Amino acid sequence: MTEDATVTAGPSPHRHTFAPAKIAGKFQGKHIISVDQFAKDDLEILFDATKSIRKRSRQHDRGLTEIAAGRVMASLFYESSTRTDMSFQAAMRRLGGDVIAASNGVRFSSVYKGENLADTVRAAGCYADVIVLRHPQVGSSYEAAYFLDKLNQRIDKRTVVVSGGDGVGEHPTQALLDLFTIIDSKGALDHQSITLVGDLKNGRTVHSLSKLIAYYRPKGTRLNMVAPETLRMPESIIAMLTDLDVEIHETEALDDVLGESDVLYWTRIQEERFANKEAYDAIKDHFIMVPELLDQAPKNAVLMHPLPRKHEMGTVEDHEGLDADPRSIYFEQMENGMFVRMALLAKVLREAYV
Ligand code: NCD
Repeated sequence: MTEDATVTAGPSPHRHTFAPAKIAGKFQGKHIISVDQFAKDDLEILFDATKSIRKRSRQHDRGLTEIAAGRVMASLFYESSTRTDMSFQAAMRRLGGDVIAASNGVRFSSVYKGENLADTVRAAGCYADVIVLRHPQVGSSYEAAYFLDKLNQRIDKRTVVVSGGDGVGEHPTQALLDLFTIIDSKGALDHQSITLVGDLKNGRTVHSLSKLIAYYRPKGTRLNMVAPETLRMPESIIAMLTDLDVEIHETEALDDVLGESDVLYWTRIQEERFANKEAYDAIKDHFIMVPELLDQAPKNAVLMHPLPRKHEMGTVEDHEGLDADPRSIYFEQMENGMFVRMALLAKVLREAYV
């Protein structure tokens, strides 16, 4: 959301008082707000379901539309979104469910009159079975889950919130689709050299993805983190990864790791998180992926990006050059996003067998 937003960024008060339930093999009725909820077994269950849904979707299996028939998803986006919002909506509809949203977007709902997040979320909670929330405050989805639980008790419902990204915090479902795409394209997560490039400080996708990789407990996998000094991965995440024995290599020089990378995960410099334009301009051209650079990567490497892309992938001509390279798999990644979200919604709403 832009400067005219009526919400403020900064940590949400409930972050530390609400601990989301671990999945532990059972998704139904659980809020999905952090990758910390997932262990390897849960990821395998979800990814098996995703593969089955992808196959059935491609066969136009009409049985899929029974999974969420009669169920409603509310889409609450306080920040801009293309893929997360549309793929969740498409996922719900392809499962036979319905989608609601404030008619002209959340900023023209009572948020415009100054309504707080807790009340808007509880309104959606009265009408929907699942709420997808994107909000600029770190921890906002924890706050939503906290208030939804109280509402659920009161009106005897089980509405869940699924985070679509909370500020510079986490983006758990993006990490799920990213990890699924890595394993799907490389055949396994073991013995991969995975290189995250760009704004590792403010990019929520790389925060969630690196933690999720650690929770998968791969063998012989290395995480290369390439960022300018001012945009390094937060220390707390590095410490957590180290505790889980993930081999990490932090560097400012892409050359150190480009030739050994099996997966290149490129990210946008998060302009909206910078204090001013000068600070952004000073760093915005730091790492630019262009076809000539991709030529230096291994022949069997894959190039991923959560998108949207800006300067970090050069000009539109560069985009075309990159898109033509079979190693660029960001459109497959994008499509997988919908299938992973279908699997997640199916599991969360009714533990459907898929
Ligand atoms: C990302 C996001 O919003 O965090 N996009 C996405 O969800 N696919 C990445 C970004 O905005 O750079």
